[in-house]
Amino acid sequence: MTERIFNFSAGPAVLPVEVLEEAKENLLSLGKTGIGILEHSHRGKAFLAVYNQMVDDCRKVANIPDDYDILFLQGGASSQFFMIPMNLLNADKTGDYVVTGMWAKKAVEQAKRFGNVHIAASSSDKNFSYIPKLTTWSDAPAYVHFTSNNTIFGTQFATEPTAPSGVPLICDASSDIFSRPIDIRKYGLIYAGAQKNLGPSGVTLVIIRKDLVKQGPLDIPEMLQYRTHAENESAYNTPPTFGLYLMGLVFKWMLNKGGLAEIENMNRAKSKVLYDYLDQSTLFRGTADFDSRSHMNVTFVTGNELIDSRFIEAAKAAGFDGLKGHRSVGGMRASIYNAFPAEGVSALVDFMRDFEAKNS
Ligand SMILES: Cc1ncc(COP(=O)(O)O)c(C=O)c1O
Repeated sequence: MTERIFNFSAGPAVLPVEVLEEAKENLLSLGKTGIGILEHSHRGKAFLAVYNQMVDDCRKVANIPDDYDILFLQGGASSQFFMIPMNLLNADKTGDYVVTGMWAKKAVEQAKRFGNVHIAASSSDKNFSYIPKLTTWSDAPAYVHFTSNNTIFGTQFATEPTAPSGVPLICDASSDIFSRPIDIRKYGLIYAGAQKNLGPSGVTLVIIRKDLVKQGPLDIPEMLQYRTHAENESAYNTPPTFGLYLMGLVFKWMLNKGGLAEIENMNRAKSKVLYDYLDQSTLFRGTADFDSRSHMNVTFVTGNELIDSRFIEAAKAAGFDGLKGHRSVGGMRASIYNAFPAEGVSALVDFMRDFEAKNS
């Protein structure tokens, strides 16, 4: 087998090796069925057993109460940008948005097609390098939407904002879902593309309170109503079976690791190694404000674009892939999601220290 290198990609991202090994085993035959996991009917007994176990484990991982539906949708997190307002907003209602990055901006643009949008807070004044502390809600918003982790800008909410009483809190958790314990009861809806912390691209997890499922209008396309997927266990049409199977393996991996509290400890330990190094480096510096730093995406620069690109090139040659920052921030970004190994972070810091010594 080709040796695996350290993959700092922002998504699709590194998956646990144990999960990949088990998936490999089941490609030709799922268990003793004689049919590979990719080839099983989504209505067949074998796949349904995989699916039901996966949903149970998902509920267990995040302690999801029974009055929440767990849906597995397609079209990426980007489709939730319009599906949410399509179901929960109209011309007479206002959705409040906390704008902390490019993905939040995209969500706002889609919501405007269906109703009124109020920007409750924004950090665009400093190129989204911080999480705003103050929010001004509109009168009686239909919901409050925020992005818990800003993949591109390397910022993360330490805790969720407090929505006005009785107003559903909606979260795009694409890049930090299940990276730490989460109190689902505080939310009306949480969604995340799978391709960072949950599995391969092609599945979007939506955790939605049952009363919100019922609120959506009936005259929009059936595929775009939450109730369609809630009533059909996310199999109204052919679901992405392989992605669902793999997510099941990832949920099991999370449970075996000790659950979200233990995963949070691992993530904090990993990001600390990198931030501690950045804080004392004379060559590199982090781009996010100290109290807004992400434990998932660590963004940093040298302040000199030429040195940045030399670093990225040298790092790649040394087996550290995917470190180039998003074009809107420049510099570097190390995405260190749940499955990213701690030894990869230590190895990167060693490499950076060496690079710094040679380039200072
Ligand atoms: C926070 C956040 N939201 C939304 C998206 C878009 O996800 P998708 O590509 O699944 O539509 C991304 C992708 O990186 C993201 O990081």
